[in-house]
Amino acid sequence: MSEFYPVNDYGPLMPGLVMAGVAIVHVFLAQFAVGGGMLLCYFQWLDMTGRNSHARKFVDGYFRVLVLISFILGALTGVGIWFTAIQVSAPTIGEMVLRFHWLWATEWAFFCLEIVAGYSFYRYHRQLSDHARLTLLGLYAFAAWMSLFWINGILAWQLTPGEWLVTQALADGFLNPSFWPSLLFRTVVCLTLAGLVACIVVNSMSDLDRDAQRSLINRAAQLMIPMVLMPFLGAWYLASMPADSRGWVLGGSPAMMLFFMISVGASLAIGGYALIGLVLQRLYINGATASLLLLLAFGATAGGEFVREGSRKPWSIRHVLYSNGIRPEEVAGLRKTGSVADDPFPLTRDALYPNDQLRLGAKVFRRQCAVCHTMHGSNAVAHLTATWDSSQMRMNIAKLQHTKPFMPPFAGTPAELESLVQYVRWSGRNQPLNWPTDTCREVLAQIETWLEEAGTAPANPDGEPERHQHDGEPES
Ligand code: HEC
Repeated sequence: MSEFYPVNDYGPLMPGLVMAGVAIVHVFLAQFAVGGGMLLCYFQWLDMTGRNSHARKFVDGYFRVLVLISFILGALTGVGIWFTAIQVSAPTIGEMVLRFHWLWATEWAFFCLEIVAGYSFYRYHRQLSDHARLTLLGLYAFAAWMSLFWINGILAWQLTPGEWLVTQALADGFLNPSFWPSLLFRTVVCLTLAGLVACIVVNSMSDLDRDAQRSLINRAAQLMIPMVLMPFLGAWYLASMPADSRGWVLGGSPAMMLFFMISVGASLAIGGYALIGLVLQRLYINGATASLLLLLAFGATAGGEFVREGSRKPWSIRHVLYSNGIRPEEVAGLRKTGSVADDPFPLTRDALYPNDQLRLGAKVFRRQCAVCHTMHGSNAVAHLTATWDSSQMRMNIAKLQHTKPFMPPFAGTPAELESLVQYVRWSGRNQPLNWPTDTCREVLAQIETWLEEAGTAPANPDGEPERHQHDGEPES
């Protein structure tokens, strides 16, 4: 039986967008924290080996920025992710915790180590010997990267569960097909972000002269050299994606493709500037330009994360859970019992609806559509269906996974579907006070036929041709 969780209504924003917003900010900060640790180790080493006489001053200055950003903002947004995720899709988080309980715990242990090492450095760096400083920074960098290592496996599993689907073995789920390409790609991103922030910090160190600043900047730019690997790692990642997801990114979905291009374009701009300008020509970069590049890097991260999350549709965990929290094996049953028959949660504005059919429709919408759609805001169903008549709407919703293959199959009774259609039409007409209750028998029979034609399988069961399991099945 399916579980019900209270869902939050974000008004014109859809839950998926709110989630993406929080996640993008968090990923950006967290990846900076990981790269920052590595950069500090490098500069501490430069100082100890006499390669740069300003490196020590830089380490102490940079560390304050790192601590401020990664400890405070990183931790706040990290908790924010959990808080948002349970409102957007409690079943997804539930599944992730259930399957990877001890991996989360391991990740958390490394996060604790990161905090302890970081705080110890922050508090005692003046008293410590060079060697102790390097050890502590090394510990910090290692722990930060390890927390990326663990979390990356769990996130990659959502898109490419791979062999795990058959074996259910923890190792198969964790070391899944996109594990290595995404881990390595993210590591390169971490180093790039750290290098860009370093350029901004150096510019703010006004007591250093131009040459001193330039020598630090050229060192920091060396962290961006691994960006040359990005095209290869990116191609490897794309190759590891399921064929249908890759299809959305490479043209199948205009929005996804656009974000992908933004991400690639911004990365090329940063990489080109860093490699040609800073590394080869050893140019100076001022604070404004460095900030602009960092902003571009934020754009690239946002585009990349949006694509990664979006390309999973219609799944939140591939073959395990649809984005709306319904499991593929539940669909056939919900077509008989109804998807909201035991939904215990009231509607926000219950009195607004002129009749019970519309109330039912609103609940069906909340359960099956609201994670990806709003009625009037972003990805608005009232708008998308504005030119359709009732009959078209019934058929296209009954065949939802064939209407657009990144939607899950409809998982409710014909009566629920009809109530949803009425709800969409009523909303599209600005919610009049009176609305007829349409429960015509022929209409329901027609919907039933369309539902059968659509079948209960997703549109792309692993890129195979579409299946129609229930074709011609006699109806009881
Ligand atoms: C996994 C996310 C997701 C879920 C769940 C989902 N949709 Fe969609 N739907 C989309 C996306 C993305 C589009 C594409 C919007 C566009 O083309 O601009 C879309 C498009 C549509 C369209 C327009 C189709 C067309 O051919 O133009 C309709 C109508 C629609 N959805 C209705 C629904 C209804 C009703 C539900 C719930 C029963 C639902 N969707 C559930 C993601 C979803």
